[in-house]
Amino acid sequence: MRIVRTIAEVRAAVRDARHTEKSVGLVPTMGAFHEGHLSLMRRAREQNDLVVVSLFVNPTQFGANEDLGAYPRDEARDAALAEAEGVDILFAPAASEIYPDGFATTIHVSGLTEVLDGASRGTHHFDGVATVVTKLFGIVRPEVAYFGQKDAQQILVVRRVVRDLDLDVRIEACPIVREGDGLAMSSRNVYLDADARAQATALNQALDAAASVFEAGERDGDSILSAAHRVLAEAGITPDYLELRDAGTLESVTRVQSDALLAVAARVGAARLIDNHTLSAT
Ligand code: PAJ
Repeated sequence: MRIVRTIAEVRAAVRDARHTEKSVGLVPTMGAFHEGHLSLMRRAREQNDLVVVSLFVNPTQFGANEDLGAYPRDEARDAALAEAEGVDILFAPAASEIYPDGFATTIHVSGLTEVLDGASRGTHHFDGVATVVTKLFGIVRPEVAYFGQKDAQQILVVRRVVRDLDLDVRIEACPIVREGDGLAMSSRNVYLDADARAQATALNQALDAAASVFEAGERDGDSILSAAHRVLAEAGITPDYLELRDAGTLESVTRVQSDALLAVAARVGAARLIDNHTLSAT
């Protein structure tokens, strides 16, 4: 595996692969790898000749009061894990390589970014994500890029950018990888002390409770959400949001008649965590 820092080096490596008609898969990440990240790399490895992983803690998607400074960083560990998954190129640029002086362009997706995490964190968050992901697509020009369903809204935003800007890349969504007790894996789980770690299991349990009510035939949104609210309240968690939205458009849903996204965000101890389940109407 090669670790490269510059756009020119990635381009050169990918150009060589493309000349020999090799397919290129990209896994965008911010590092602090866990099994969720590794599952995307594995999928990319299975499906492509050349696998590029980007490791870049993107400053523009963090709010002024968020955890940019504290975000876990351990490039040596990440590089070893990526190498063990058979990754070919780890692109780990400095911020100045991605945002040189004079950088002035932002990709903004309206609508989709104004709800859930966009409302809770502010629209700068998805502007930052959309802009850096668009740049990564332009730098690497992959046939396919891999994203986790853990960040369901992020996938919808990225798909919309790809569609609206006619980017020639296929977006592949990969399932949420969880700890044994159901907690969705996240780089931010390292912020949890023992008490908060125990409390955090209530997020997935709340979504499970709501999903059970749905599976038993309930279609009324408030009734489904109540089941989740009860579990969160018992665990002493007040969510930033707990909402049921159309899985494709993120429009608000009062009765579940097509696939719905049941999404939660909450501060647990020192971490802000998100999780979601898809309720399949078919
Ligand atoms: P990051 O949080 O590092 O996540 C990188 C990728 O791993 C994302 O597609 C995310 O959805 C996926 N992922 C994280 N936890 C997962 C889990 N438990 N199961 C499955 N997949 C999981 O998401 C970002 O970085 C950034 O916003 C990025 C897209 C790199 C743009 O900066």
